[in-house]
Amino acid sequence: MSEKPSYLGLLNAIAVGESQAHCYLTAWIEKTDDPDVKATLSRVAAREGEHGMSFAKRINELGYSVRTKDDDEGFQKRLAIASSDRTDLEKMEKLGLGRLDSGDKPDIFDKVFTDHSIDIRTGELLGRYIAEERDSGRILKSCYEALKARGGKSAASVTADDSRLSALESKLDAVCAAIGDMQTMLAGSAKRTNGARAKTKA
Ligand SMILES: [Fe+2]
Repeated sequence: MSEKPSYLGLLNAIAVGESQAHCYLTAWIEKTDDPDVKATLSRVAAREGEHGMSFAKRINELGYSVRTKDDDEGFQKRLAIASSDRTDLEKMEKLGLGRLDSGDKPDIFDKVFTDHSIDIRTGELLGRYIAEERDSGRILKSCYEALKARGGKSAASVTADDSRLSALESKLDAVCAAIGDMQTMLAGSAKRTNGARAKTKA
């Protein structure tokens, strides 16, 4: 390789960051019991892992190797959050995963192609990577919003709460009906007693 590519640092940052994300998302998948969260994280983790390896492969093809930090505190912190007993909603908030999607506003990827020296093969890889990252941002945001709407509970526990509430409502209806019957019975018996008294007086 004649000259060191100006975008080598960018490729290295992506290779490292994506591999780390794959690692902590996988730890989170093993902890969650919410099937919706598991499905979303599995989709994103698979992409992150593949991005990490593809960028490492490209760096190798360009004649270099991935450089990692020995003690990456940021990664250790994210891994600790993902593997903790916190709720899925708390993890989403702590890791900022509900805020990755910028909608139609500019995002961190907008300036990648301002480097006009990017070679064709790397450009293809970056283009697909950016499109997948933006899609991951959208699905993580919708997962975060669904969790928030359920107050952090899993869909299964909301369904269980709903059926408990329905059972309670049915029981309450039965009690109200029994009270109504009793009132009718008491009113009937009071009428009969009053009628009998009136007859005795006559
Ligand atoms: Fe990523």
